[in-house]
Formats: sequence, C-alpha cells, structure tokens
Amino acid sequence: MPYDPRSFLTFLRKGILEYEQTASPVPSQRFLVNKMVEGTQPESAGAIVELGPGVGVMTSALLARMKPDSKLFTIEIDASIHEELLRHVSDPRLVAILGSAEHTDTLVKEHGLDGKADAVLSSLGLSLIPDPIRHRILESSARVLAPHGTFVQFGYVHTRYFVYSRSRGYERFDYFGTLKRYFRSVERSPVPANFPPAFVYVCRN
Ligand SMILES: C[S@@+](CC[C@H](N)C(=O)[O-])C[C@H]1O[C@@H](n2cnc3c(N)ncnc32)[C@H](O)[C@@H]1O
Repeated sequence: MPYDPRSFLTFLRKGILEYEQTASPVPSQRFLVNKMVEGTQPESAGAIVELGPGVGVMTSALLARMKPDSKLFTIEIDASIHEELLRHVSDPRLVAILGSAEHTDTLVKEHGLDGKADAVLSSLGLSLIPDPIRHRILESSARVLAPHGTFVQFGYVHTRYFVYSRSRGYERFDYFGTLKRYFRSVERSPVPANFPPAFVYVCRN
C-alpha cells in the first residue's frame, strides 16, 4: 500500500502523543511487512488475526496473498487509526474490529470466526505494554490459534538494549524469552532494512 499523507500524519501524531501505545512514529516498511506476512503462510490460511494493524500496511499485504474465501480479522485499539484503516482497505474478506487485543479470542468469535485461526500476526509494541496486559494478550492469542497455528511478532532491535516508558523508566525486554513462555518453538530472524531495524519472531503452538 503506498503511503497516503493523511494516514501517515495520523500515525505520526499518535506515535508522538501516545508513543507507549503506538510504539513507533512511522508505519512498518516493505522488508519488515514482507517478512511478517510470509511468516503467516497467507496462501494456505483460512483465517488470520492481525493485532495492531495501524493504518493497514500489513493488512493490505496479507489480503493480497490470501485466498478468495479466507477471512482476515484485525483488532486495533485506537479509534482514529482504525478509521484510517477502514478508509484505505476495503475488502469483503476483512473484518476490522475496534478493541483491545487482550480480548482477541472473544472478539473474533463475536465477529464471526467459526473455529480457530491459522495465524496471528502481531505488530503490538509488546515491550512497552504493561506486564499484566501483555500476559492477557499472549494468552488470548494462544487460545485462538489452531494446533498447527503460527504466531508472528516483530520487535525492534534496540529494545534488547533499552526501552523507555514513562511509568517504568529505562528497561530491557527479552522478546525471545517472553514468547517462549507461551509457544513451544520460537524462531528469530533479523530485518535490518527497516526504521527502526527489527527482529521477526515466528512462534508455533
Ligand atoms: C507498532 S504499531 C504497528 C502498526 C502497523 N501494523 C505497522 O506495522 O505499521 C502498533 C499498533 O498497535 C495498536 N495497539 C496498541 N495496543 C493495542 C491493543 N492492546 N490492542 C489492539 N491494538 C493495539 C496501536 O494503536 C498501533 O496501531
């Protein structure tokens, strides 16, 4: 999806004013989007859940590769970002939900997911999210996944060294160790060509 100035500015404004929730000043770029989408194996998925779609860079890339009879559920917490997503991405396979990923399994059920999802793709800034909320998000995601399902997450490289939040000050965050508590296997690959550079984690139930 080419960047649209209005959605770029909405995201930038939220990224500055509500950094702890938005977790980035700018949407993800091509190499990170491709690596994340590839991890979900979209061509063979019947249903995918996307957490924190933002203004839709990964949503469009997922839909471009998903089957005509598949479903993509997105869960976004911010109302103005959610509106930008709806303005940009119009597809009968998309079910865009305004809500918190803490309630992923119940939200997608209420919005028509019959059964389990083949993949959950998360762009949430897990390192900035307080511990109890992060726990609820990961538990709920694990519950919605099919036994063969894949959970795909990215984390910025710098969070291994420092992450700053107003409430907790400077901290480090161990993405690999955190994800390992919820999923049987976790694989990590670097994506240096993104601002900020990131790692993609592909986790299996
Ligand atoms: C780092 S941005 C990623 C946006 C987009 N996927 C991308 O890669 O450019 C994280 C997104 O997650 C959303 N978010 C944060 N906490 C959330 C929560 N608990 N539930 C759902 N969305 C959340 C933010 O509003 C933001 O749009």
